[in-house]
Amino acid sequence: MSSINIITDLPGPKSLELVARREAATSRGAAKLTQIAVTKAEGATVTDVDGNTLLDFAGGIGTLAVGHCPPSVVSALQNQAESLIHMCAIVGSYEPYIQVAELLNEITLGDHAKKSVLTNSGAEAVEAAVKIARAHTGRQGIIVFEGAYHGRTNMTMAMTSKYALFKKGFGPFAPEVYRLPFPNLYRRPPEMSEEGFVEYAIQQLENALIAQVDPSAVAAIVIEPVQGEGGFLPTPPRFMQKIRELCDQHGIVMIADEVQCGFARTGKLFAMEHYNIVPDLMTTGKSLAGGMPLAAVTGRAEIMDAPHPGGLGGTYSGNPLACVAAVEAITMMRQPEFLARAQAVGARFWEHLQHIQRQADNKLVGDIRGLGPMLVMELVKGRDTKQPAMEETARVTQETFKQGLITIRAGLYSNCVRFLPPLNITDDQIDEGMAIVADAVRTVSRER
Ligand SMILES: Cc1ncc(COP(=O)(O)O)c(C=O)c1O
Repeated sequence: MSSINIITDLPGPKSLELVARREAATSRGAAKLTQIAVTKAEGATVTDVDGNTLLDFAGGIGTLAVGHCPPSVVSALQNQAESLIHMCAIVGSYEPYIQVAELLNEITLGDHAKKSVLTNSGAEAVEAAVKIARAHTGRQGIIVFEGAYHGRTNMTMAMTSKYALFKKGFGPFAPEVYRLPFPNLYRRPPEMSEEGFVEYAIQQLENALIAQVDPSAVAAIVIEPVQGEGGFLPTPPRFMQKIRELCDQHGIVMIADEVQCGFARTGKLFAMEHYNIVPDLMTTGKSLAGGMPLAAVTGRAEIMDAPHPGGLGGTYSGNPLACVAAVEAITMMRQPEFLARAQAVGARFWEHLQHIQRQADNKLVGDIRGLGPMLVMELVKGRDTKQPAMEETARVTQETFKQGLITIRAGLYSNCVRFLPPLNITDDQIDEGMAIVADAVRTVSRER
């Protein structure tokens, strides 16, 4: 049975009306990727204000691993709202806040003693991780990579790549951030092997510690195990291993930013499990709390305890509602069956993507890649030139939307269609959505 039920053109008249009001009332700077206005959602579907039901392959940009409105999260929120909505963890303690920290300390990588701190957003978690690493090392330098996305606050904007969209006109940016090349295997020089290209990136990393900053001035290396906004680029294992070695050698804090790729998004609870490498600190967010605003830094207790008492915190950080939602979401996501389903979802998406790429008349799909169910297709003007097909990518997402499937873009060149569905999506829903993607790719191919 079809999950999508369309009764008006998309976007429908009421969506258009509401979006017009939004545009009149809010800054044009506030990002908005579609023209849909929604009223409710369940699992992998959303219903808009016109009564249309759409499939959602954006999942709140990877926030809804447990799906829209899972009953256990809803009922935990209802119960909590009746007893304590807010207190401020600076003012008083409450058990859900402590439970989330205990759970994070338990489920993240490594057997060592760990501690956590809770924040409102992923960007805030990354900023907190930077503060903690600086307090621990007494150093200031932060190494990040091309294509990275770490958030939109001043510090994380400095750490984020993709200037035109995220940074233009917003400087000056925080100092002491060093951006180094990231081994994007798809865009390596044609004459280089994958292995050779990774070795070259490692040489550049080593050289930067002579040419750009001395290791004794570096507090942290921050890496997304799978670059999210950068286009779902898994970090090559050898490169990750080199980062771990450099951090060990020079007393640098290794921070894995798992805000987008964490919590089953890659088929394992955390993406770093694919590498068998334990970072010193890990940032998490997005799916952590089933859609409620919550993020965290978790890591080695002695590093986490480096800031002075009172140095970290915020009015809403670790709000009780967000925390009870997180306890329920984590309880679901850590189950072996949930992770097995996430892997099966990834495998089914992958089959569809391979089929789309194989279509003989289709030169648009340059690359398909990712880890587990965190997958993209990168669109190019030609598979030989690999010239990013930015407008065509926008067209593909518009076409899927017209047919009732929400998809969004990613990538340094905005030329990837990324798939971040709720991980409790059904096989039928995957098939239904991917048939629409295939159709949209065919339509856009024909337009060229
Ligand atoms: C890897 C990564 N880090 C940090 C952030 C920032 O998170 P937030 O938008 O919750 O501030 C994001 C958001 O997409 C992200 O993907």
